[in-house]
Amino acid sequence: MDTSTTPAGAEIGTPRDTWGSKFAFVLAAAGSAIGLGNIWGFPTVAGQNGGAAFLVVYLIAVAFIGAPVMLAELIIGRRTQRNPVGAFKALAPGSAWVVVGGLGVLTGVVILSFYTVIAGWTLAYVIKAITGAFTAGVDTEAMFTGVAGAALPAIGWHLVFMIITIAVVLGGVRDGIERWTKILMPALFVILLLLVARAVTLPGAGTGLEFYFKPDFSKITTTVVLAAIGQAFFSLSLGMGAMITYGSYISRKDDLVSSAAWVTGFDTMIAIMAGLIIFPTLFSAGLEPGTGGPGMVFVVLTSLLSTIPPAPWGGIVFGTLFFLLLAIAALTSSVSLMEVASAWLIDERKMPRKKAALIIGGVAFVLGIPSALANGAVGWLSSVPGIGMDFLSFLFMLFGQYSLVIGALLISVFIAWIWGTHNADAEVRSNDGNFPLGGLWTFLIRYVCPVAIMAILGSLLWPYIAR
Ligand code: TRP
Repeated sequence: MDTSTTPAGAEIGTPRDTWGSKFAFVLAAAGSAIGLGNIWGFPTVAGQNGGAAFLVVYLIAVAFIGAPVMLAELIIGRRTQRNPVGAFKALAPGSAWVVVGGLGVLTGVVILSFYTVIAGWTLAYVIKAITGAFTAGVDTEAMFTGVAGAALPAIGWHLVFMIITIAVVLGGVRDGIERWTKILMPALFVILLLLVARAVTLPGAGTGLEFYFKPDFSKITTTVVLAAIGQAFFSLSLGMGAMITYGSYISRKDDLVSSAAWVTGFDTMIAIMAGLIIFPTLFSAGLEPGTGGPGMVFVVLTSLLSTIPPAPWGGIVFGTLFFLLLAIAALTSSVSLMEVASAWLIDERKMPRKKAALIIGGVAFVLGIPSALANGAVGWLSSVPGIGMDFLSFLFMLFGQYSLVIGALLISVFIAWIWGTHNADAEVRSNDGNFPLGGLWTFLIRYVCPVAIMAILGSLLWPYIAR
């Protein structure tokens, strides 16, 4: 099938560009899920929220909230074969539910705008690594400021990464997205294993492991729980319709439940490994967790990579490999962010794929400029007055956490109470008649997901309402 021209405005059930196989879908969805959220986001948020206590809440959130919402999005996607806006239009014609899809498209564009800023840093670090900058004693803080803290490199790398993302999205689903992921996932896994081995054997690594694995439950607050749920959605690419869009390319022959389980499992494993790399290294270097903002992970990682013998080759070989793989992992994620809004323009506005990708990429590039300038280049963006954090972290909180949590809440309410779990059930069973753990899923999506999310949002908002 010609993959560059996804049929515009396909009716429910008509064939459309599909993944080569279930394995290919799992890889591509894992490619969307696994990215900066795992290696940059997870350790950053975990460090700010108490380490081990956060990890415990995170794992519970993934299992009981993330996984069921993942399945819900895949069901909606495969049922409607549409982008999120078209999907809600198809399942609830003439209703306000289409707004959920619209919110998803908007959220995707905003996340894309700062995602490519961070991803741009990984490209800059590839160059640093190749040129031998990662050697013992190097000032890794100054190195980060050199990359992210000056306007020209920050915006330049953001632009470069956006152009690469556009190029992949132009290639269409199968050629563009599928091909990359097959090589990337195993390679990333191997290099992460090597870095874990290096990190946990550093002198003083034990304190880091304790911070990461020995929970102090008194640290669990509603803020921590919300951060964990938000991080779970971000990491699993949920709450804005990315998995609706990817699910729309799954063939009717394939099994949705095991697909959702594999993607969730892979993604969580990579995040846990990232923590195993960052926290031992951080404590070994005598740094404080929870400080350093978006740059922390980069500073810590380069300190680790700089210790790998023999100098300078250890730093060159492992540094280049690591940041290259991280850049590709980020690319398979940024592609999925761009694909949601592009699919919307292609399906709903009947736009050619090329034009759609260029428009979304252009908008996200401009929108990302303040985030690119927020890490040292422009003072007030680096610590927004009245907000107490840098602009990039602020956008990450608003769109990378809150908006996804609200989106996921609405998606679960929709599938459980509006469209109906009997319809979802029929869609899951449409391949071989089975729905393993169907009863559990129905319970979680009907009661646990909406109630837990509403309780958390409510308790955060309550002080403002009651005032
Ligand atoms: N999950 C990706 C990561 O962890 C980021 C991402 C891609 C995403 N698509 C998404 C986040 C959709 C939220 C929604 O890096």
